[in-house]
Amino acid sequence: MSKRENNSVFLQLMTARDWFDRAQKEGFAIGAFNVDNMDIFKAVCLAGKNKKSSVMLEFSQGEVSYFGLKNIVDLTVNARQEYGIPILLNLDHAKSAEDCIAAVEQAGFDDVHFDGSDLPFEKNVEETKKVVENAHKKGLLVEGEIDKISTLSEVHNEEIDLELLKKSYTDPTKAAKFVKETGVDILAAVFGNVHGIFPVQPDLDIDLLSKIREAVPSCFLSLHGSSGIPADQVKTAINVGKIVKVNLNTELRVAYREAIGEELSENPEEYASYKLASDVILAVAAVVENKIDVFGSAGKI
Ligand code: G3H
Ligand code: ZN
Repeated sequence: MSKRENNSVFLQLMTARDWFDRAQKEGFAIGAFNVDNMDIFKAVCLAGKNKKSSVMLEFSQGEVSYFGLKNIVDLTVNARQEYGIPILLNLDHAKSAEDCIAAVEQAGFDDVHFDGSDLPFEKNVEETKKVVENAHKKGLLVEGEIDKISTLSEVHNEEIDLELLKKSYTDPTKAAKFVKETGVDILAAVFGNVHGIFPVQPDLDIDLLSKIREAVPSCFLSLHGSSGIPADQVKTAINVGKIVKVNLNTELRVAYREAIGEELSENPEEYASYKLASDVILAVAAVVENKIDVFGSAGKI
């Protein structure tokens, strides 16, 4: 086996924990990209290949119901071979422990995110623990969430009420208790990040992030809602908070919609949608490639 082949086998064998450990040590983050449809799936994999970066594919509840859990795993397993890059798989914002356990049982996921942020703290701890027990038996990582990451992954026209938003930021003391009691591997920190793009995006509270970092020294941190956050703030957060996973959805949805709209208007006679797909995939991949540069994971494979 050549040195190059040997290296690629080694990279494929790295677990999500290995990647996050390495990311933390080397000061980069892995992009966790939501997959709305097959074009976006291909775009993320292509961008990872072009940028020599590992990528994480992630599927929220709606996205899981579109693809089906088994298809998600099979497609990802095939893509790892086809694109020849490490592709991690995450269940994103699952609202029930049962959904997380279904993904654990399915085999093929690397990480499950149990989002118990709608539950009272003690119930959230109880349900998260259930997920951790199941997932750890199979070697998967679990991401937990105590504070609401507000709103949906879409383009919002309304202004954010900043004072109200601040009430949902992560309390470092509560975060430490949550991590200790549940044993989660990753905490979704909330410090100015929201889902979706807003007319005025709130600034990240980097001071709070460093307090969260200190409060949970042995837990990985993720940054949700990265759409619309300026690149310099994302880089500072990765640097100061040692964030290892950055979630991105809305900007991909926007890129997809714009590209498909353009394709349809430029090709009014074309009815084979796969023929329209190649430019759409390239447009979404360009967004992912740019994010990979911001997150610092380019050239790591
Ligand atoms: O879990 C998904 C992400 O947090 C996506 O957030 O739509 O603001 O990029 P975003
Ligand atoms: Zn999120």
